[in-house]
Amino acid sequence: MPARNHNQWSEAPSLKTGEWVDSRIYSEQEIFEEENEKIFKHVWVPVCHESELPKPYDFRTASIGREPIIICRGPDNEVRAFLNVCPHRGMLIERRPSGSFLEGQPSGNPKRITCMFHAWQFDMKGNCVYVAREKEGYQDRLCKENVGLRRLRCEVKFGGFVWVNLDDNPAQSLEEWCGKPFECLRKTLDAEPLEVFHYHKAIVDTNYKLWHDTNSEFYHDFMHYHNRVTGFNDAYFARKNEAFDNGHVVVGTFEVNYENYEGFESRAELSFPYLPPNQWYMIDLFPGFNFNLRGSALRCDIVTPLGPDKVMIEFRGLGLKKDTPEERMTRINHHNSIWGPFGRNLHEDLIGVAGQGATMRPGTEPRNILHGRHENETIHDEIGMRHYYDVWGRWMNRTPSEPDKPYTATAVAAE
Ligand code: FES
Ligand SMILES: [Fe+2]
Repeated sequence: MPARNHNQWSEAPSLKTGEWVDSRIYSEQEIFEEENEKIFKHVWVPVCHESELPKPYDFRTASIGREPIIICRGPDNEVRAFLNVCPHRGMLIERRPSGSFLEGQPSGNPKRITCMFHAWQFDMKGNCVYVAREKEGYQDRLCKENVGLRRLRCEVKFGGFVWVNLDDNPAQSLEEWCGKPFECLRKTLDAEPLEVFHYHKAIVDTNYKLWHDTNSEFYHDFMHYHNRVTGFNDAYFARKNEAFDNGHVVVGTFEVNYENYEGFESRAELSFPYLPPNQWYMIDLFPGFNFNLRGSALRCDIVTPLGPDKVMIEFRGLGLKKDTPEERMTRINHHNSIWGPFGRNLHEDLIGVAGQGATMRPGTEPRNILHGRHENETIHDEIGMRHYYDVWGRWMNRTPSEPDKPYTATAVAAE
């Protein structure tokens, strides 16, 4: 096949609709803005893990789309979420990534969320409990009972993750939204309290969907030498790639042969509860949240899109809370030797998606991105992406392969 001119390069490929997308869905500012409005303001987001706020008055800050949020644990042990926005004049109330409200700060009272700007104070339920010089300034025209924080829907579920939805009336409950894909790991994740032992974040010059794609397609194992030597066998190629409603996908398990890689050892001893040794499950939730369990360590990725070609990814590693110090060290080693910033895998994925990001900056020549591999819904079948983009098209009312046109259902996703 000779190299192609512009018209040939832009032609629809000889695949069925739904088996490719237009690269503008990764590069256009307008589409990015619309995704924030139509998707991120309405989906359940796993913003953190309950072990990151273990005690009453502990808090953590995060964001969903452009909205800064604060998650805190009350004296009643309930975890609640609020917009991290002061009702007075819109100051970001808490600027630390995490901490505790138990002790007072120079500009904050104990057991209160205090806005440092004009010292308004809130309790762990989001009630405003103090307005500085309230009577003097407002007389009886505004009282603190009416200026509480903006509360958000919040649930702790599926292994202790804290899920928040910016929509007060989401179309589906959290269970309806993603209960089915979690079924394969529900018993395992809920058997024992889990604990975060690793956290880092990366700001990557690529579109958030490309990160999610790389988590949900395994054809790119050709890039991962470690995965090839520990995995490429008959069981690997039979690994199921299953699409679920709402754009989610689960990549089923097989047994990884860690000893095939020099310096690596079996992870059988520290397998999570109810898992046979050295198994590997992957749950990819629409629009960009991943739960990746390699036997002895769970990884969770959460994306926050920052622009069409910029995404913040938060990476967490989790083990069992009851781990002994030795077990924990081994688990950390298992996690970091593959998924740490210097591990055998993660940086390769980052190179892959940054390479895609480099060719899809806003204004670059549109082209087709192919998702047309069919391999009996096994590991290298691109069914996960086809399904994801069909659901994306519905949320956005755009056809992924022709984003200027309204959504029409594709046969491919349903196959
Ligand atoms: S903006 Fe928060 S107290 Fe004024
Ligand atoms: Fe990868």
